[in-house]
Amino acid sequence: MGYDASFRVWRGDADGGELRDYSVPVNEGEVVLDIIHRLQATQTPDLAVRWNCKAGKCGSCSAEINGRPRLLCMTRMSTFAEDEVVTVTPMRAFPVIRDLVTDVSFNYRKAREIPSFTPPPGLAPGEYRMQQIDVARSQEFRKCIECFLCQNTCHVVRDHEDNKEAFSGPRFFIRIAELEMHPLDTADRRDAAQDQSGLGLCNITKCCTEVCPEDIKITDNAIIPMKERVVDRRYDPLVWLGNKIFRRGET
Ligand code: SF4
Ligand code: SF4
Ligand code: FES
Repeated sequence: MGYDASFRVWRGDADGGELRDYSVPVNEGEVVLDIIHRLQATQTPDLAVRWNCKAGKCGSCSAEINGRPRLLCMTRMSTFAEDEVVTVTPMRAFPVIRDLVTDVSFNYRKAREIPSFTPPPGLAPGEYRMQQIDVARSQEFRKCIECFLCQNTCHVVRDHEDNKEAFSGPRFFIRIAELEMHPLDTADRRDAAQDQSGLGLCNITKCCTEVCPEDIKITDNAIIPMKERVVDRRYDPLVWLGNKIFRRGET
């Protein structure tokens, strides 16, 4: 059975904006993106919203619904009471371009900072076979659809814009973990994770994991193992002694 839903949508641009109220018809089985599209088609043709697949796979339609970071296309209207006001706002951690569309280029800059996969020099095609256990370990991380909801949720950048320079965020901690766990990757990612990507700023609150639409266990399976590897390296007495001797030899 259809009904008219009360929607409160943020309208504006980089110079500022406001929440505006709308009443929009809802049909059975619809998701929030359907209602935003109907609003666009019938009342607000200039409403800006980014989307592509409407299937939870492209990661484009990220926004905040009643203050919670979510995909617009994967949030069913049946999760709200019919008399509930549904508030839709853009992701808070990134600059607004217009209405529900934000500039997520911060994430692309961070992606470029991570050195690419580095196999041993001279390894010819077919010389190495991956074991299933190695494939399975990183499979979870490869489910990432780059919706950046985890980045938007992480308090390290959400509440502290000035941390963006030193902190790559959860999406890139899983990328670093994926490379670090790859049996053929020869780069040592641990110091880079700590020093360039700001792994130490993460206090494992798990908020990123809670909002991931792909159910990737970001904190338990990527961040905590990476932190353990950093600790193993930095506080291993042999590594410590080796660093001392090496540094002394440099001076
Ligand atoms: S666990 Fe770490 S990366 Fe994830 S939201 Fe918390 S502080 Fe951010
Ligand atoms: S890890 Fe999850 S929440 Fe983060 S960008 Fe990937 S799919 Fe989105
Ligand atoms: S439109 Fe592709 S994830 Fe929502």
